[in-house]
Amino acid sequence: MSKRIAVYPGSFDPITNGHMDIVERGLEIFDEIVIAVARNSEKKSLFTIEERLHLIAEAHCNDPRVKVDTFDGLLVDYVVNQGARVILRGLRAVSDFEYEFQIAQMNHKLRREVETLFLMTSVPYGYLSSSIVKEVACLNGPVETLVPPIVRAALAEKCRKMKEE
Ligand code: COA
Repeated sequence: MSKRIAVYPGSFDPITNGHMDIVERGLEIFDEIVIAVARNSEKKSLFTIEERLHLIAEAHCNDPRVKVDTFDGLLVDYVVNQGARVILRGLRAVSDFEYEFQIAQMNHKLRREVETLFLMTSVPYGYLSSSIVKEVACLNGPVETLVPPIVRAALAEKCRKMKEE
């Protein structure tokens, strides 16, 4: 039987425990998950693409079922090139729904063979976003329950450098 592969796309600036929760639960369904960092995101980022890839890889402790990559261009083309048919996304709140619904429908129109699978974010992470974590960390708030330890250290370093500039 061929491997069941899902692509989990996003900006991951940085990866949080909410993202990790989606990956861990996704691994109960799929044999392999490709965490794909979008290169052409219009969001202003704190971490470079290379830093984000490194943090994701370290956070997953080299689990062979988790691949880390970047992509340019249309997500659905990337998904098909990976030999996958499923896009994995997390839904945190009703407010996520409209945006995700629109993207999932467009992706399905672009490539009918690609489906989007949504997992409801676990209760402790319902309020979490990368932006909120960055804000709390740079104001010296506690983020140890929100991000993996390697991300906490990287955030502290980034925020310290930003304050020095
Ligand atoms: N836990 C914690 N945070 C979560 C989360 C979870 N389970 N799920 C989403 N989030 C947060 C993210 O941290 C992010 O926070 P931020 O806005 O503060 O950075 C936010 O929710 C959503 O961002 P993300 O999941 O990274 O998605 P995105 O909107 O930045 O990126 C892409 C969406 C990359 C998938 C989409 O733009 C894309 O496919 N681009 C490729 C181009 C393309 O094909 N376009 C056509 C699509 S129709």
